[in-house]
Amino acid sequence: MCGIVAYLGDKEAEPLLLEGLRRLEYRGYDSSGIAVLNGGGLELVKKVGRIQQLERALASHPLHGSLGISHTRWATHGKATDINAHPHTDASGKLAIVHNGVIENYGVLKKKLAEKGYSFRTETDTEVLAVLIGFHFDTLDTETENRLEMAVMEALREITGTYGLVAIHQDQPGIMVGARRGSPLVLGIGPHEHFLASDVSAVAAHTQTVAHLRDFDVVTIDRNGYRLKSLTHNKAGLEISRIDYQAADTELGDFPHFMLKEIFEQTISIQNAVRGRLNIEESTAQLGGLNLTPQEIREIDRIVITGCGTAMHSGMVGEYIIESLAHVPVEVEWASEFRLRNSPLDRRTLVIAVSQSGETEDTLGALREARRKGHRVLGICNNVASTLARETDGGVYMYAGPEVSVAATKSFTSQAVIFLLLALLLGRMRFLSGTQGKEIIQAIEALPDQITQILKQSAHIRSIAEKYRKADSMLFFGRQMQYGIALEGALKMKEITYIHAEGHPTAELKHGIIALVDEDTPSVFLCPRDGAYDKNSNNMQQVRARKGPVIAVATEGDEEIHQHADDIICIPAAPEYVTPILSVIPLQLFAYHMAVILGRDVDKPRNLAKSVTVP
Ligand code: M6R
Repeated sequence: MCGIVAYLGDKEAEPLLLEGLRRLEYRGYDSSGIAVLNGGGLELVKKVGRIQQLERALASHPLHGSLGISHTRWATHGKATDINAHPHTDASGKLAIVHNGVIENYGVLKKKLAEKGYSFRTETDTEVLAVLIGFHFDTLDTETENRLEMAVMEALREITGTYGLVAIHQDQPGIMVGARRGSPLVLGIGPHEHFLASDVSAVAAHTQTVAHLRDFDVVTIDRNGYRLKSLTHNKAGLEISRIDYQAADTELGDFPHFMLKEIFEQTISIQNAVRGRLNIEESTAQLGGLNLTPQEIREIDRIVITGCGTAMHSGMVGEYIIESLAHVPVEVEWASEFRLRNSPLDRRTLVIAVSQSGETEDTLGALREARRKGHRVLGICNNVASTLARETDGGVYMYAGPEVSVAATKSFTSQAVIFLLLALLLGRMRFLSGTQGKEIIQAIEALPDQITQILKQSAHIRSIAEKYRKADSMLFFGRQMQYGIALEGALKMKEITYIHAEGHPTAELKHGIIALVDEDTPSVFLCPRDGAYDKNSNNMQQVRARKGPVIAVATEGDEEIHQHADDIICIPAAPEYVTPILSVIPLQLFAYHMAVILGRDVDKPRNLAKSVTVP
């Protein structure tokens, strides 16, 4: 978590850094700060709260200078306060760093530095790193040409943990040093200027030429260019690429919130996920990025899907889709659990890591663990230049465009449709007939129009949210393919409204959960017209018999549902394997409207960050 932007060029740094921070605010938003170097030395402003607080502070105390570093924080060590905000300085007050990651051995280092007489002002691990770099800087001869770079490298050799960091020092005023291990850092290269940032969105308005630092890279930037070194003596240079990034994609346009914009973008993002991937002639899917031969695809006899949060829920939907269409056994595991346990996988098991950002620490941990054990790992991810994309053996990009709101929406439906493509491919290589393949393709092609139909019910869904605005708790139920959607609906609700919400397999209701049912606790049932319809109807009646309000997500034209539910949201009739992609959308809208009604900060809910880059 946390976002970093640094600038060295011939323009004023402050407005560029602030603009970059606004684009990175999704990575953390409990405090922010800027430090610049100018003829007068190191100047620094940092503030608890959103970036507006920092802007206000800078309005009365502007920082001038064309070299600066900045940071937006998601607290790990130390509360969200002015003093704990980044940048952090060393004992001399001349060195400042911004850092994204966790210094695991900061306690030991702090003790050692304290024994040398250093004291600390904050509760953070980053201040310890700043003091350590400052200690090495002060130990080096003042004539040393690469003094800051050497001090950073010496300090990094002593630490364990993760970092994307940038350091500046008043005594080397034309230089900034960046380094990466575990947390992303991108070098943006423009004419007469360079940027370092946690992701390309912070630099894309100024340059399209970027290079992603690799673990253990250290880059030193001055007014003439940059120089790369590696803590592991890796001689490879940086791979420079051109980014195709439209800054407009991260702007709100006519929408009041990114979450609503991204919910409405799903008609398009679904098409982007499918484009060029259907082979109509052979009634199958083509997924070139898998880097697997047809023979290797046939040999897969088990799949393990792993991810966190919403990505994990899409994996649960993927499990049902792949097993029912391709008959390949699938297991889904939380990445945080998978990475720590000794899963007995064999050579023919394919591991699929799912992540919108491609930077989630637990998902990367799971993929590295699987690769360490010799398994082939594919990725499903949105961020093309992410760590996950670089470390997997192949995969499928979502091409959903930037997802800015902390609550994942369009990434979920894109992931689910990619599982559908994968199931089609695996199925057609096993036993699915051409006719069945064709039906699946038709169902996929119908999705954008069906999603448009659901989006038209936004006002109706808002009225249901109004009705239940006083609820303190909600229950979400789904069976089979809809179970992952129940979990996802509950996650959306709690994440952005702070209402307690639980998702369960519908039949579990009777095994304890029904004790929570009362007249103030709405239960949302996912009950499309499928094989489980009658069982679901019984469960809805059991809730209503106990005065619990029932909201049903049901199939259009289902008259019977009026006997079982107080409120109904319709989704178009569709084959069972595509209904999860449809039924999740009303739940996204339900949570969204409820959050707006309750006056929540929809796109930046409390305590959260978009990319969870700490374990
Ligand atoms: O970037 P990822 O897909 O790896 O993120 C995984 C989760 O952190 C994420 O889905 C989280 O649960 C969302 N905030 C849910 O809306």
